[in-house]
Amino acid sequence: MVNNKPCSSSDGSIKSGCPVLTVSAKTVLRNYQTEESIPVVVPKSAHNQDCRHQVCTSSLMNYSPYPKKDASDENWPLPNYTKDQFLQEAKQYLTIYHNDKKTHKDEYHVRLKEIEDEIKTKQSATYTTDELRYGAQLAWRNAARCINRLYWQTLEITDRRDVKTNDAMFEAVCQHIRSSFNGGKLLATVLVLPQNARLWSSQYLRFACYEQTDGTLLGDPANRELTRIAMKIGWSKPETERTEWDVLPVIVQCNPEEDPSWYELPVDCRPIVELSHPDPKYEQAMRQLGLQWFAQPFVADKAIEIGGVVFKCVPFSGWFMETEIGRDLCDVQRYNSIPKLAQIMDLDVTLAASSQLNIDRIYVEVNAAVLHSFQQAQVSIVDHHTAAAGFQKFLKEDTVARGNTPADWVWIVPPISSGMSPAFHQEMMNYLVKPCILDQTEPWVPYFERLRKNPAVIDEPVKKNNWALVKNAFKPFEMLISRINKRTCVTVLYASTTGTAESYAKQTVSRLFKEGYKAELSELDKFSFPDADKTTQLLLIITSTFGRGNAPANGLKTEQWMEENNQSLVESQEKSFGQLNRELKNSCSHFVYAVCAIGSKAYEDFCEFGVCLDQTLENLGSTRLLPVATCDALSDQYKSFCRWETEAIGALKQVFPIKQALPAKTNILTDEEKRSNDLVSSSEKDEFPDEEGAQAMIELSFYDNVCARREGVGPYTKTNPLEATVLMNKELVKPAKIENRGHLSSSMNQHSVRQIELAIKDMPYLAGDHVYIFPENPTSDVEKVIKRCGLKLDDINLDRPCSLNVISNGRFQSMRELISKYVDLVSPSLPNVLECFARYASDEGERKKLRQLIENKEAYLEWSVNRWTVNEVLDEFKSVEIKLHELIQFLPPLQPRPYSISSSPRTNANKLQITVSVVKYNTPNGMRRDGLCSNFLYQTIPQDKNELSLKQYKTNRKILPPIQSHQPRMSVNKLHGTVSTAGYKQTKQKDHTGLITYFRPETESKNEQIFSSNKDEKASKVRIFVIPNPSFRLPGQLQDPQKVDFSKVLETMSSRLLMFAIGSGIAPFRAFWHELLSLSRTIQTTEKDRMLFIGCRTPNDLLYADELKKLTQSTTQANHRILTEVVPVYSRVPGHQKRYVQDEIPRYKQIIYSFLADKHSFVFMCGSVRACIGIERGLVSVIESCQPGKPTRDEAEDCIKRMKRCGKIQLEMFG
Ligand SMILES: Cc1cc2nc3c(=O)[nH]c(=O)nc-3n(C[C@H](O)[C@H](O)[C@H](O)COP(=O)(O)OP(=O)(O)OC[C@H]3O[C@@H](n4cnc5c(N)ncnc54)[C@H](O)[C@@H]3O)c2cc1C
Ligand SMILES: Cc1cc2nc3c(=O)[nH]c(=O)nc-3n(C[C@H](O)[C@H](O)[C@H](O)COP(=O)(O)O)c2cc1C
Repeated sequence: MVNNKPCSSSDGSIKSGCPVLTVSAKTVLRNYQTEESIPVVVPKSAHNQDCRHQVCTSSLMNYSPYPKKDASDENWPLPNYTKDQFLQEAKQYLTIYHNDKKTHKDEYHVRLKEIEDEIKTKQSATYTTDELRYGAQLAWRNAARCINRLYWQTLEITDRRDVKTNDAMFEAVCQHIRSSFNGGKLLATVLVLPQNARLWSSQYLRFACYEQTDGTLLGDPANRELTRIAMKIGWSKPETERTEWDVLPVIVQCNPEEDPSWYELPVDCRPIVELSHPDPKYEQAMRQLGLQWFAQPFVADKAIEIGGVVFKCVPFSGWFMETEIGRDLCDVQRYNSIPKLAQIMDLDVTLAASSQLNIDRIYVEVNAAVLHSFQQAQVSIVDHHTAAAGFQKFLKEDTVARGNTPADWVWIVPPISSGMSPAFHQEMMNYLVKPCILDQTEPWVPYFERLRKNPAVIDEPVKKNNWALVKNAFKPFEMLISRINKRTCVTVLYASTTGTAESYAKQTVSRLFKEGYKAELSELDKFSFPDADKTTQLLLIITSTFGRGNAPANGLKTEQWMEENNQSLVESQEKSFGQLNRELKNSCSHFVYAVCAIGSKAYEDFCEFGVCLDQTLENLGSTRLLPVATCDALSDQYKSFCRWETEAIGALKQVFPIKQALPAKTNILTDEEKRSNDLVSSSEKDEFPDEEGAQAMIELSFYDNVCARREGVGPYTKTNPLEATVLMNKELVKPAKIENRGHLSSSMNQHSVRQIELAIKDMPYLAGDHVYIFPENPTSDVEKVIKRCGLKLDDINLDRPCSLNVISNGRFQSMRELISKYVDLVSPSLPNVLECFARYASDEGERKKLRQLIENKEAYLEWSVNRWTVNEVLDEFKSVEIKLHELIQFLPPLQPRPYSISSSPRTNANKLQITVSVVKYNTPNGMRRDGLCSNFLYQTIPQDKNELSLKQYKTNRKILPPIQSHQPRMSVNKLHGTVSTAGYKQTKQKDHTGLITYFRPETESKNEQIFSSNKDEKASKVRIFVIPNPSFRLPGQLQDPQKVDFSKVLETMSSRLLMFAIGSGIAPFRAFWHELLSLSRTIQTTEKDRMLFIGCRTPNDLLYADELKKLTQSTTQANHRILTEVVPVYSRVPGHQKRYVQDEIPRYKQIIYSFLADKHSFVFMCGSVRACIGIERGLVSVIESCQPGKPTRDEAEDCIKRMKRCGKIQLEMFG
């Protein structure tokens, strides 16, 4: 029977939240420890207490106050009220609320009327936030199983009934965690979500439990089922990375009619305390087991009933009593840590030893460790004695306030040392009072039940048992995975100098799109880690390494940010004695990331930058999706990258399942004929619907007026290169048959190395630095592709400024410029480019073949060894019909190539020289290939009229000069007209040092200017920028070549140098000797040993032979030699045995050892990777045989490694 009057005690006064519906007899509750008696009125509740006839069910775990009405009662064990019952419940709650809040009675009546109207018309009741807050507080107060209710009035709520999507719900969850954690001073809070939302995780923070193939479990067995479900809906951890402490994702379902989504909690939302113990013996054992627990409980699976309304998703936070964690870690059916700890500490916990109470001892110490660790971490916690004392206080106060209070002895009494707790000795009465906390069905049960009822989805009968229900439901569930949304976009970041990482990143973006993700591409430095949006962000990062384990050019800012943060982490760690600054440690917790580091094992710091970035992100709290991959340029780099890409996307799919795969586009141009011949077609845009950004096509339009780009202002970088005029382009290899012009065919095959001089301005560099040069496409390729795309070579639209200029940041305005200078027509197409071709292929067979190459990595790798150019691909796939402006957008940009600078800025700061070996090779199928950049440089037209050797190769090979964007193209005849018969003629002019054969003297500048103004139009320009190379520097080398620091110069001049050059590897050494020559005029030292080994094919290939000859003669003012010995080693002298530089090392081992052993000596080597490796091995042998004490090979190798690390040995590898 329900009392309709407001709750009142027997004396008639209004009692707060009075549970007593019908007052019955008075009695007392005794405490047998303290001998106190608390007078109570015996409640006689109208609610079902689940105590059945003649049996007490008080130790059953779950009970429902609501009997099940019928089998179809989906809501059970929650209430299923009739309208009248609902009205009664609402009225009763509003009565309690208004009585307790002492509101004016009019207010009560108004509110009651509103709610009653709503119930009558809509069968719902919308309570205010205040009403909800108080309802939640009362529900806690009435929670018979909770020992910690003394604080019920402090409970706060966050009212998020407005949340509409899974994403928003998860964000609310994260916010709930952050706010209630409150820097470790934990708050009791409830997050109120929409009435029917569900959280599938029983608590926000749960450790996974994996079922292993050997039948064992890894992790917290309490979460076995939840883990299975999480895995079935797509969450996973690679098996190799699983631990027993993996935090499960949070699974949310905002709308019961829709699918759930799961989310990894950002690191700042999963506060964990690692267990430590003041006693070293326990400390060691607990650390060894890695014992830890979450800092805060967030119970997420209970419902709350307030005024007849049931809220199914009201996660509440509080703080732990230490025994809860003790039980989580020690319960036999949970982590069962006691036997493991006992084993480490060599304590017997077998039944035979039960009389020793070792189990209890360890159990108590685990509890002690929990308290100790939380105190150390400054996170709130309560011990069971304090909690029990608090409970006693609550019991008394609440009983005074309302006559009695419900309490469940079975749950209240702490699990350790129970007899020591007053609660153990306390009589209690357990009954149900509303508002209350309720148990409910596991959330997946109704979900799967709903699926089961949908015959379109499932056809198997489902067993009644919950778990079986879930298992059966997996089948349709798998089919539904693609419908589970995770809308977070994936950002693909790259840092790259020569474009490898960039092209890989583009491929990844394209694959992500294909897989159904939204993907964004960005240079690493354009992404700001500290300023990025704080919501969860998925990052796939692909980066190379340059310098000495440094970032590539477009990752330098990020490198600085990393250094600063790592430094701060170290400092904060030192200051706080090992406790890291929490804020810093969590500053990147919203990132979920994976790094692919590309580099070359030829370098000591293999993939160092990528590896460091991966580590830094982890240090700052980001969640690593999979271990960092390292991809070696010397060994299947692309293959390794593809492996990482597949794994990364696989892991992504697991963590953030895809919305839906985008359908592949085919036959894009089937109605080509219907189109006009115009380059711009209005229908094109429709055929390329915007695939969420990255794949969007730029519509082609033309401008008649375009603002000229501001050119020539430094600093010069990859995105702002200097357009340098080619001053000189000279052959360095003496022709074998130059005297007989009838034997040109043999000279056609001749190896060519060019000395190229460029005019620079405001481009500081040091000897040893690299200049990066952008190549341009061969004219023949450009013309062919223009025609292949259906345009005539003289189409006026080719030279009009157009809308595509944006892809080159406005640097190139017309399609002809873009196709000549911006996009790469020569490098082999990666699968993402083939993918584009496939879209344009009308022939089914060709499409199939392309698809096979795209999808089958092995097939692609086999195909790509022949390095097919774009034109060759288009030749092979004839049905591909593509417009030029579309092609331009698909192709990757041309990438700059590094060249070691072969001049010294001290000689002339406005000129820079390089030594370029012109690359030619045959592919495995016998196709002749020209290296793009070296051949482009080879063909550049120098300003210097004296450098005419160029003609010989051009005429012989019938090569057209490159198209220069701002000048008319030359015809072959015209070119021929510029060529004299002078052949390989050197100018033999002296520079201001009086020594350098090929430098034009400064005194010639007047002539040069006159000459320049006449010839400037025809001189080629190349786009360049310089990147410092601190790992290949003369000892004591100055940073600023304009300054002279005597102590440094002294170091440079007084060091002994041993140099090994192979082929064009002579380049940086030439910069060195020019530097030394220049410095020798400033400072005089005694002559120092400077020995150069140089490997070349024949004496004709001995580059800079005349210079070298002079350098070994007395050249300085003090009559000293710049080089004391030059040892040429020839590999292709007819009739002689092949010799390589490393072969000469044994013969010179004593002198080489003298360099290695002397601390004032430095060793340099430069050339191909293979040659450098050979020379390094030679040096190891020298140490082995010459070093006193006869070191072993391993010791000798270590010795060389150490020398490399400290910069005594420096390598420069061209590959
Ligand atoms: C730090 C550094 C400094 C350098 N300094 C110099 C320098 O001073 N002088 C100099 O001449 N070069 C130098 N190089 C090399 C230079 O950067 C270019 O790689 C070289 O000029 C070739 O570029 P390319 O555009 O002509 O050839 P690409 O069009 O890039 O073609 C070269 C590519 O062809 C492939 N290839 C080459 N030979 C074969 C073959 N036999 N079979 C199959 N495939 C093959 C390779 O995969 C290679 O990547 C340096 C390289 C580095 C890394
Ligand atoms: C001057 C120079 C320095 C390099 N330094 C390193 C290094 O320290 N560690 C490494 O693993 N790779 C190093 N590499 C190799 C590059 O990382 C590798 O070639 C990579 O594929 C280049 O990628 P990118 O084209 O995206 O820049 C270096 C390459 C050059 C040219």
